[in-house]
This record gives sequence, C-alpha cells and structure tokens, in this order.
Amino acid sequence: KRTVVLISGRGSNMTALIAAASNPDYPAEIVGVISDRANAAGLGIAAARGIATKVISRADYTSKEAHDGAIDAALVSFSAEIVALAGYMRILGARFVEKWLGRMINIHPALLPAFKGLDTHARALRAGTRIHGCTVHFVTLDMDDGPIIAQAAVPVMVGDNEDTLAARVLKAEHRLYPLALGLVAEGKARMEGGRTVLARFA
Ligand code: GRF
Repeated sequence: KRTVVLISGRGSNMTALIAAASNPDYPAEIVGVISDRANAAGLGIAAARGIATKVISRADYTSKEAHDGAIDAALVSFSAEIVALAGYMRILGARFVEKWLGRMINIHPALLPAFKGLDTHARALRAGTRIHGCTVHFVTLDMDDGPIIAQAAVPVMVGDNEDTLAARVLKAEHRLYPLALGLVAEGKARMEGGRTVLARFA
C-alpha cells in the first residue's frame, strides 16, 4: 500500500518505517514524506534514502483549512492509500480527518487512553506508573482518541528521568510502528464502526 508519512521534526519513527518498507515482503511502501516545517531533520534522512519530500508550511496558507487542503492535494498527488503521522505536531481539521478516516494512523508515546496530549513521559513519571509505553491508533476527530491498533509496554525503572524513559519508549516505538502499519496495509487491522477489527493471527 502506498503510504505517505507526515512529520514535523526528528523523524526517527519515519526512519523506522522506511527501513521496514525497504524489505520487499513488507506490505507498505513509503512513497513520500510531508513536513510542515522546512527545518525538520527527517526531511534530509528521507531524501538520503531516495524518498520524495514536500514541505507544506502553515505560514504559506491563510487558514488552517487551506493548509490541510494543500496537504490533502499532496497526498492525492502521491496516490497515497495510507497516511502515517509520525511526530506531526499539528492537529488536522475535521474535513481532512473525515476524508482519511480508517486510512490514517498515528503513534503516541503513551499507553492510551492514559496520557493523551503532550509531555507524556514527565506525566507518567509524576503519576508514578510502573509501566509506560506507546500506542498506534487510527486518527479520529478527537486527539489521541482513535481506535487502538497496537501497543508496546516498557517498564518505568527506578531512577528514570524524562530522557531515560523517553529513550526506552522510543525504542519500542521503532518496533511497534512498522508492525502496526504492516497490519493496516495488509488489511489485518481495519477500522469499522469506530472500533479496530483485528484479524486472527494464523
Ligand atoms: C515520538 O515520540 C512520537 O510518538 C510522537 O512524537 C515523537 C516523534 O519522534 N508523536 P520522531 O520525529 O519520530 O523521532
């Protein structure tokens, strides 16, 4: 399945998806990367791997809807079948989300439904949770609220700070996101009636 990755920054999850997709048996192909920030480090990484990149900056559009529309047009020009948000730091509007419903996924650095939003690692530490992790979910109108596709848990260790915990979760993200995108691309994880339907594993 033709997949476009949306980023805003570092792009380490994007890099993990590109690496997975370099295997010819993998069911998704990364055909493009779109960033809303011209200085996103991920753009250079994608270009170095021969993947088409586009910068679509919010500042170049008069409204959020026009910006979303430009991203949608770029996705259409890539013939995208799946959109993978990977550290895309902007909330997409209702029209855009509805158009890509069931075909757009996101990775969130917490075990949803806990710790939606930002600063998840600091909040997990403050809450004293002993288990933390990451979630890949379908994107719906409410932020970090869509049906869960896959999750990975990591322990919170004694002495962890935000950085050590974030690094442990990020490693798990890099394994989880390729797995989850693969399930969606193969049709083994589908969104139906607001829920995820998972195929049985043979
Ligand atoms: C990741 O922690 C991801 O879960 C969150 O933003 C971060 C992006 O990192 N949505 P990267 O750009 O993939 O390195």
